[in-house]
Amino acid sequence: MPTALITGASGGIGAAFAAELAKRQHNLILVARSEDKLQQLAATLQQQFKVRVEVIVQDLSAPGAGTAVFDTVVKKGWRVDLLVNNAGFGDYGVFADRPLAKQLTMVQLNIVALVELSHLFLQGMRQRKSGSIINVASIAAFQPMPYLSMYAATKAFVLSFSEALWAENKDLGIGVLCLCPGPTESEFFAVAEFPQSMASSSGQKLVPAAEVVRDALKALDKNESNVVTGGIPNQIIANMPRLMPRELLVKSVEKVFRAKEE
Ligand SMILES: NC(=O)c1ccc[n+]([C@@H]2O[C@H](COP(=O)([O-])OP(=O)(O)OC[C@H]3O[C@@H](n4cnc5c(N)ncnc54)[C@H](OP(=O)(O)O)[C@@H]3O)[C@@H](O)[C@H]2O)c1
Repeated sequence: MPTALITGASGGIGAAFAAELAKRQHNLILVARSEDKLQQLAATLQQQFKVRVEVIVQDLSAPGAGTAVFDTVVKKGWRVDLLVNNAGFGDYGVFADRPLAKQLTMVQLNIVALVELSHLFLQGMRQRKSGSIINVASIAAFQPMPYLSMYAATKAFVLSFSEALWAENKDLGIGVLCLCPGPTESEFFAVAEFPQSMASSSGQKLVPAAEVVRDALKALDKNESNVVTGGIPNQIIANMPRLMPRELLVKSVEKVFRAKEE
């Protein structure tokens, strides 16, 4: 039975990955900070799908956190066939007005931990000439986003990095997929402290996390390098930047994302 390691598995898209992969008979290693939520999910999935579910409680924004997770996996003798780098968060507001520590933590989690885990787990996958990685970016990866400047920049990194890894590893039979969801049902907007006016006026329907995960796994099966989930509006958002002058693009995004409260 293959084993998947999922970061940010305690809720939202990560928990949906855990449920869908357990249903598809994967053993799981669940990683996040909330031990109670991870243990509860592990017990449910073990019982429901008769798979083995391990839990690693780890703050992935801590320096060396990816290495700590990898070392635990090696020490326990587990093999990871699918790595899902999903843990991440955003932060809404004018960059200069938001706490610097939060921006740096975002870089550690959204970028550094993902790079560390990708590098460490790719070694074994390349030796075995099998395995896959799903890196979770966002449709925010396709353009600069005023009021989500750091978040969009971290996701642009994830998209560029993942597509390059896809090309480097495809001939070895290793899949690397960059998942780019649009607005999805999860704690994301609460954690990012979106203002009330943005929550109500953005108008875009939230897609269930389970649907995002099914589309991602379908794309991974087809060995695609990236997938934009959530239908035509998200395809337009992802492709529009290629057709617009950059200054006009960022001015338009600024208007859409400026809070009415400002
Ligand atoms: N929801 C959306 O609209 C949307 C759209 C595009 C992309 N995404 C991306 O999807 C991914 C999953 O987000 P989500 O929407 O499912 O949000 P979520 O419900 O807030 O889930 C985030 C997950 O990341 C974990 N996490 C947060 N900080 C962590 C840390 N320091 N160390 C370890 N784990 C940490 C959380 O668990 P703990 O709190 O227990 O640690 C939780 O399991 C993120 O990368 C996000 O950027 C989301």
